[in-house]
Amino acid sequence: MEDALLKLKNEAAGDLAAIASAGDLEPFRIKYFGRKSPFTRLMRQLGDAPAADRPRLGKLANELKKELQRQFEEKKASLSRQGMAEGADIDLTLPGRTTPQGKLHPVTQIMEEICGIFEGLGFTVAEGPDIETDFYNFEALNIPAHHPARDMHDTFYVDDSILLRTHTSPMQARVMETKEPPLRVIAPGKVYRCDSDITHTPMFHQVEGFLVDSDVSFADLKGVLSVFIAKMFDESTPIRFRPSFFPFTEPSAEVDIGCVMCNSKGCRVCKQTGWLEILGAGMIDPEVFKKVDYDPEVYSGFAFGLGVERIAMLKYGINDIRLYYENDLRFLRQF
Ligand code: FA5
Repeated sequence: MEDALLKLKNEAAGDLAAIASAGDLEPFRIKYFGRKSPFTRLMRQLGDAPAADRPRLGKLANELKKELQRQFEEKKASLSRQGMAEGADIDLTLPGRTTPQGKLHPVTQIMEEICGIFEGLGFTVAEGPDIETDFYNFEALNIPAHHPARDMHDTFYVDDSILLRTHTSPMQARVMETKEPPLRVIAPGKVYRCDSDITHTPMFHQVEGFLVDSDVSFADLKGVLSVFIAKMFDESTPIRFRPSFFPFTEPSAEVDIGCVMCNSKGCRVCKQTGWLEILGAGMIDPEVFKKVDYDPEVYSGFAFGLGVERIAMLKYGINDIRLYYENDLRFLRQF
C-alpha cells in the first residue's frame, strides 16, 4: 500500500509537470481529485491493511493528496499569470462592461426641486395617505355630500366613504388637527382623477402648501408664490392671479404663467390664450378652521395646490403630459 501511494505520487508529479496549457488542468483535476481518483480507490483498500498500519497509511495518503492539491493550485495560478502576460485569454478589442445607471423620473426631479424651494422658504414636509376618507377629501374642506363642487373632481371611489384622494388638500385638515399654529407646511404626493387628455392624466402629483398664523393676508400668498415662480422658472416669467372658486378658500384664485411653449403668443398647449394654469390657491375659509377647532377670529392663513406634471411640462417644453407615463426609455433618458 505504501509503495502504491509513492508510485501514485511520482506518476501525478510527472503528469502535473507535463501540463502546458490551461486546457490540460481540468482532465488532471478529474483524474486525481475526482470521485474515481486513485486516492479514493486506495483509501477504500485501507480497510484491508493490518490494523496497526492503518493510521499511518491513512495519514500518508491524506498528506500526499493535500500536497498534490497545493501543487495543482500553484500550477493553475502560474498558467493564468502566463496567459495574462501573453494576452492569450484577453481580447483587448472587446467593449468594456458598462454598469447601467438609473436616474430619477423627470416628475420626481421636479417634485424635489419644488419641495427644495419651499423648504428654503421655511416650509416643512408632511405626507399623508393616497387612499383617503370622504371626510378629509371633501367634508373637512367645506364640500358636504351632494354639494355641486364635488363635480369639480371626477372621483375614483373605493366604497361610499373611502376614495382615492383627488387632491392633496386633505392634508390641510390632517395636519391642523394635530398641530397648533403657526404652521408652514408643504404636502407632496400622488392624486387621482378620472381624467385623461394632453394636459390631464388619471394619476398625477400635487404639492399642497399652507401657512397659518395670526394676521396672514393675500399679499403674503402672492409674495410666496411669486418667489416660487421666479425660482422655478425665471425672474421675468409673467404671472397672473385669476379669480376662481374653491369651497375651502375665500377669496380663491388660479395662478397662470405666460406660456413657455410659445412665449405667450398663443399655441395649441395654451389654447391660444398665451397663459397656462399651474395652481389653485386662496385664503383658507373660516369653515375649514372651524372643522379643526382653530378660532377663525384669531388665525388666518393661505393655501395653494400645484400640479407637478404641469410644471414639469412647462419647464421641459413637453406638449403632452401622457409622455411621462408611457415609460419610453428614449423619452426618459433625456432628463
Ligand atoms: C385643486 O386640486 C385644489 N385642491 C388646489 C387648491 C389647494 C386650491 C389649496 C386652493 C387651496 P385643481 O383641481 O385646479 O385644484 O388642481 C390643481 C392643479 O393640479 C391644476 O392647476 C393643474 O395644474 C393640476 N391638475 C388638475 N387636474 C389634473 C390632471 N388630471 N392631470 C394633471 N394635472 C392636473
